[in-house]
Amino acid sequence: MTQRIALVTGGSRGLGKNAVLKLAAQGTDIIFTWNSQQQAAQDVVEELQQIGVKAVALQLNVSDISTFGDFTQQVTQALKETWQRDTFDYLVNNAGIGINVPFAETTEAQFDELLNIQFKGPFFLTQHLLPLIKNGGRILNVSTGLARFALPGFAAYAAMKGAMEVLTRYQAKELGERGISVNVIAPGAIETDFGGGSVRDNEQINQYIASQTALGRVGVPDDIGDAIAALLSDKLGWMSAQRVEVSGGMFL
Ligand SMILES: NC(=O)c1ccc[n+]([C@@H]2O[C@H](COP(=O)([O-])OP(=O)(O)OC[C@H]3O[C@@H](n4cnc5c(N)ncnc54)[C@H](OP(=O)(O)O)[C@@H]3O)[C@@H](O)[C@H]2O)c1
Repeated sequence: MTQRIALVTGGSRGLGKNAVLKLAAQGTDIIFTWNSQQQAAQDVVEELQQIGVKAVALQLNVSDISTFGDFTQQVTQALKETWQRDTFDYLVNNAGIGINVPFAETTEAQFDELLNIQFKGPFFLTQHLLPLIKNGGRILNVSTGLARFALPGFAAYAAMKGAMEVLTRYQAKELGERGISVNVIAPGAIETDFGGGSVRDNEQINQYIASQTALGRVGVPDDIGDAIAALLSDKLGWMSAQRVEVSGGMFL
């Protein structure tokens, strides 16, 4: 079996970091991106190397499409130098931010920021990276439980994720001829820095979500990192165009 390589956006913290560590634990080499936190990214590279996999961290702002040509060149070069290859196996579109604002108060600037980071960025990033994704490879997009259920304050954020869910089906249809499967994972509320860390740090929010979750607690990064590694395992190669919610049964 050839060595597998995953490219994960936003691997410096939170769910992306957990995912790269879990993918590494099953023997997958890693390219991941960071946006603002270079030291955190360097720490993750060292953790990955201690696990025994090859790891490369690259800077990327997913909202700046003008840089995607350069970024694709950097990935090409990293593949060549580190793996003597011209393709990678798995793309995980994970990087993202949340903005909690009611529909009636959402500004155009907030809308555009979410659009660029959560939808337009991953749309064109994936398009740029297509030649580097191996035939028979996988794409996993990251959505949210909020695209199925509605919580006040997430209209724009959840709408962008809903768009990613529709895009997932179109990518699955069009990339299927190259044997590439495309799925979307929808995490429930997870304790990370996301949205100012409110799920982790605000006891009231944490307890409310736990009370609305079948398994009785909010999610932790391990819940999602494990799920991402499982979804990219060889056992699930025949699954495509699916939305998989990993939320402990939130808002049933
Ligand atoms: N946590 C949740 O409750 C939850 C639930 C459902 C879905 N999600 C989704 O899961 C994904 C990861 O969230 P998280 O909880 O891990 O968030 P997080 O802990 O805040 O981490 C965000 C990651 O994305 C990167 N990032 C942020 N803005 C970026 C940009 N403009 N360009 C490129 N990278 C950028 C960050 O890089 P730096 O470290 O360099 O800043 C970091 O690696 C997001 O798509 C989010 O919407 C999260």
